[in-house]
Order: sequence, then structure tokens, then C-alpha cells
Amino acid sequence: MKKLLILTLGLIFMLALVLSACGGGSEPEQVPAQADKGDPVKGKELFLSCSACHGPAGEGVPGLGKDMAGSEFIAGKTDDELVEFIKVGRDPGDPLNTTGVAMPPKGSNPALTDEDLYDIVAYLREIQQ
Ligand code: HEC
Repeated sequence: MKKLLILTLGLIFMLALVLSACGGGSEPEQVPAQADKGDPVKGKELFLSCSACHGPAGEGVPGLGKDMAGSEFIAGKTDDELVEFIKVGRDPGDPLNTTGVAMPPKGSNPALTDEDLYDIVAYLREIQQ
């Protein structure tokens, strides 16, 4: 009789475990930090604004723009931070400037919207792979 009781208790315990593991669907939805903000295909077209200085494939042009594929600066920034950076640029007086050449705000293309910049950043992520 005692054995049966222990067995039953054991079963109830296991059932409770299984049920709690299922969580009743109350788990918070996974939102990837940088989910699909930009479209790299559009970004590639928009990158024409940047390629004069950064090269058609972002490889950089000596004396103009820096290489983007191997850029630790780009790798170390979030999409939001990069969009903010591109809006501001980096003039030669900036202590972070490494070439003495200006990175103009929005690459001198004020027509680029935030959405465009997120598309470009998505393309930069592809260049970096
Ligand atoms: C007129 C030339 C020019 C254009 C156009 C230009 N850039 Fe730049 N960009 C530069 C230069 C020069 C630097 C490096 C500045 C420095 O010495 O730190 C730079 C740096 C950068 C960096 C930082 C890279 C690093 O490793 O520090 C990013 C990101 C960047 N540019 C993005 C863009 C994007 C996106 C566009 C197009 C919307 C663009 N640039 C257009 C000249 C340009």
C-alpha cells in the first residue's frame, strides 16, 4: 500500500514538472536585439552614396574612405549607433579621426532617410561577413 502511495506521489510530481516546463505559453516572445531593421538589398543600391570614398564593395579608397569589411569600429557598434554615426560623420578635427580626411555627415547625401541608413547598415553587416 505504501509503495503505491509513493508511486502516485512520484507520478504527480513528474506531471507537475512537465506542466511547468511547458510554461503554459506565457514565455516572453524572443525579440532579437537587431531584428531586420534594414534591407541589405536596398542598402547595396544606396551604398552608391558611399562607394565614391569607401569603394564599390566597401574595400576603401586610399586617401578617401576607410575599408569597411575589416572595420572593428563597425563590428563593435549596434545598428542604432552606426546610423547615428553616419548622420554626424567624423571630421578631421575629431579625436577619433584616423586619416585626416573627413567622413561627411550622411556621406554628403542629406537625402538619405533613417530608413535608408538602416538599409545601408544592413548592407555593411553583409560586407563584414
Ligand atoms: C567624401 C568621402 C566619404 C563619403 C562619401 C563617405 N565616407 Fe564614410 N568615411 C570617410 C572617411 C575619410 C572616413 C574615415 C575617417 C577617419 O579618418 O576616421 C570614413 C569613415 C566611415 C566609417 C567609420 C569606419 C571606421 O572604421 O572607423 C563609417 C561607418 C562610414 N564612413 C560610413 C559611411 C557611409 C555609410 C557612407 C555613405 C552614406 C559614407 N561613409 C560615405 C569618407 C567618406
